[in-house]
Amino acid sequence: MTVAEFVVVANRLPVDRIVGPDGEESWRTSPGGLVAALEPMMQSMHGAWVGWPGQADLELEPFEADGIQLVPVPLSEQEVADYYEGFSNDTIWPLYHDVIAPPQYHREWWDAYVTVNRRFAQAAAAAAAPDGTVWVHDYQLQLVPQMVRELRPDVTIGYFHHIPFPAHGLYAQLPWRDHVLRGLLGADVIGFQRVQDATYFLTAVRRRLRYEVKGPTVAVPAGEDGAVRTAVARAFPISIDTAPYLELAARPDVRARAAEIRASLGNPSRILLGVDRLDYTKGIGHRIKAYGELLAEGRLHVEDVTLVQVASPSRERVDAYVHLRDEIELAVGRINGDTDTMGHTAIRYLHQGYPREEMVALYLAADVMLVTALRDGMNLVAKEYIATRADNRGVLVLSEFTGAADELRQAVRVNPHDIEGLKDAIMTAVEMPAAEQGRRMRALRRRVLENDVNTWSSSFLAALADVRER
Ligand code: G6P
Repeated sequence: MTVAEFVVVANRLPVDRIVGPDGEESWRTSPGGLVAALEPMMQSMHGAWVGWPGQADLELEPFEADGIQLVPVPLSEQEVADYYEGFSNDTIWPLYHDVIAPPQYHREWWDAYVTVNRRFAQAAAAAAAPDGTVWVHDYQLQLVPQMVRELRPDVTIGYFHHIPFPAHGLYAQLPWRDHVLRGLLGADVIGFQRVQDATYFLTAVRRRLRYEVKGPTVAVPAGEDGAVRTAVARAFPISIDTAPYLELAARPDVRARAAEIRASLGNPSRILLGVDRLDYTKGIGHRIKAYGELLAEGRLHVEDVTLVQVASPSRERVDAYVHLRDEIELAVGRINGDTDTMGHTAIRYLHQGYPREEMVALYLAADVMLVTALRDGMNLVAKEYIATRADNRGVLVLSEFTGAADELRQAVRVNPHDIEGLKDAIMTAVEMPAAEQGRRMRALRRRVLENDVNTWSSSFLAALADVRER
């Protein structure tokens, strides 16, 4: 039986399944930023992580990996379809990203969401020590805070929302809008990426539930005698664990790999890079369109530039993602067909995921990083790129519609919907003199290195401790 002072609850467990040469299975913590941020605390407090192991119908006993207790929550095939692919990724995801794709509202998906959220809440409630802390993560689990509170009124509950929260006019579409708000308000602290997300949430709370809201605090009715408790909703912009990026970027073998990548692309004078999950929120199509027009108009030449687009496979059974893939691959094929020569390619498109070493080598090879998301909670790729640029060279083109844009003011900012503006921004980046690159990159690096993921988690947990004291 797992009992921990500190319990993290997230849709996915932070582990990868390793199958050895003889077919034996083991698990290793995956190198994501969230685990890295929480690992020291998880290890010292003997913390537990409640999550889905990522495969349908896999029933596993709690186990330990790298000093963290892992509590697997099983999902059936049907629940993967209805709770994960359905409600989480075909209802909430598109709605919260400003309906870039139309959200689907299905009552059976909602029912599965409630059932699965309850399962996560029960696992968390069972794992938390008396007066312990439970920290719930992201949009797949918005009902868990209130469910945990009902099961375990003694614990302190935090919730962090990694994606955007939409304006009230859009949020109001959700048939279960009041349930979701009440679910989130079960937490003592509700964290968002941007000030704007927190503001939209507080507006929804005021308008839908008519609770009293003062600054970041909400008076949440608790019990029947008119008693209230305080919940705080505010921004805590997330970041990356910078250390491994700095280390890898300095490693001779990684630097050699960057040179090798450059050479294998025919040593173009400028390498442009896009790195995204293949998701319609990322504006990959807009980026490719702008780049293709620059080539067609002769403002860029295929002998001089290459766009490397890493589009890692994601949510491949959700219709909107299936269509997106077809659309992107058609566009890439057209542009390459029209402009490639035997020795040079316009777009090197990679529908694959890569280990961190290879990503850092790519960042080092890239003169220009293109982040053109139509809507993005934060965008950590932008911060990863910056962290690796120890020589203060390189240019970040960054969409205004990312959480990162609030912090990374010295990037070349773009509205990705404005294709002419995007083309001009790409040209500005390609032609930017070294001195200006240095001036901007130094400021960007200062920001990213000072506000890393440890700053993020400690400020969130400090806010949680503060509410608990009250
Ligand atoms: C976003 C979400 C995460 C999610 C990740 C990958 O970053 O905020 O909660 O885990 O995408 O998506 P997936 O559906 O594969 O977990």
